[in-house]
Amino acid sequence: MPYYHSAGLVPPKRHTQHRDEHGQLYYEELMGEEGFSSDSSLLYHRFLPSAIRAYREWELRDQTLVPNHPLIPRHLSTHKIFAEGDTGVDAVTGRRLLLGNDDVRIAYVVADSVSPYYRNGIGDECLYLEEGDALVETIFGDLTVGQGDYVVIPRATTYRFVPLGGSVRVYAVEANSHITPARRYLSKHGQLLEHAPFCERDLRLPTDPRVVEEENVEVHLKHRGPRGVVGTVHTLPQHPFDVVGWDGCLYPFAFNVRDFEPITGRVHQPPPAHQVFEGNNFVICNFVPRKVDYHPLAVPVPYYHSNVDSDEVMFYCGGDYEARKGSGIGQGSISLHPGGHPHGPQPGAMERSLGIEYFDELAIMVDTFRPLLLGEAGRATDDGTYVYSWERNS
Ligand SMILES: [Fe+2]
Repeated sequence: MPYYHSAGLVPPKRHTQHRDEHGQLYYEELMGEEGFSSDSSLLYHRFLPSAIRAYREWELRDQTLVPNHPLIPRHLSTHKIFAEGDTGVDAVTGRRLLLGNDDVRIAYVVADSVSPYYRNGIGDECLYLEEGDALVETIFGDLTVGQGDYVVIPRATTYRFVPLGGSVRVYAVEANSHITPARRYLSKHGQLLEHAPFCERDLRLPTDPRVVEEENVEVHLKHRGPRGVVGTVHTLPQHPFDVVGWDGCLYPFAFNVRDFEPITGRVHQPPPAHQVFEGNNFVICNFVPRKVDYHPLAVPVPYYHSNVDSDEVMFYCGGDYEARKGSGIGQGSISLHPGGHPHGPQPGAMERSLGIEYFDELAIMVDTFRPLLLGEAGRATDDGTYVYSWERNS
């Protein structure tokens, strides 16, 4: 993020001596993006941040990806991935892979247990909470999050995910790059512009850093391997949460989808009006409850569209999505509309939408510029019939 923030104890001048009450120097760490030519923060550690006492392999869940071939639109069901009563699942090691390519992976988890300490060395993460409450403890401080929150966590941020009072449904977008607000919303210096559908006041930053005294703490590290994503566990001699203060423009934050102010018009607004974030070769949009098109002859559901450069993934996570009625899609569903195939409302949806003034629907959309492949959870929950949904009811 481009906004400067300071938390905890930092010295008045950067790169100068910073000592605790016993005269011991703190260890300054510069955490920066793009070869230190982009956003960064300075963190002050009580112990050496480089120290590793032991290491071992972390065997990730199935990360295989299978091409969407023969090419068809698909309907996946996140709510069928985990059985009712599945326990002992955490939001890091329990993620099940739905879709992915060389730029982004989309996974889902219903977590009831505290995750291990974790660091994604591959890219930023954007976790969307479909349901439940959690505390995301990070090296920068804590974020209290709940239903409808996006949690954007920069690459290599150490954190753990603590469900509060029950299970949490998490839709995890793991980038191989950085995730930022849509760049066209930003001024040349990075301020969210007046036409953006959200602003800095809507972003929630971490509390002051949490300092924990503990030895021999494991951190699960996700990183690149010769054939894709792999994992390693480092045992650190001291707890990774030893930061007494930090400042800069690189940190995790939360943003609730209800704080996204929809852009509406007399006639149908194009999909980019719904954009919130972007990464390299993908965008994240949200369709929120909103007043719909108010031209007297408006057709409120979308026109058929061929986004010729993208695959489109919609995650239906609230209300009743007007354009998909009759397709079998419901809460927790995912539709995959691949590039090369025009798509749009299900039969009858256009007529049913005429005269409607308000859509009570909530969906998170990821559009990728490279084709998406199917992960094990996507393959396991594909209904196999969505491809016929426009034809069979017409
Ligand atoms: Fe679409």
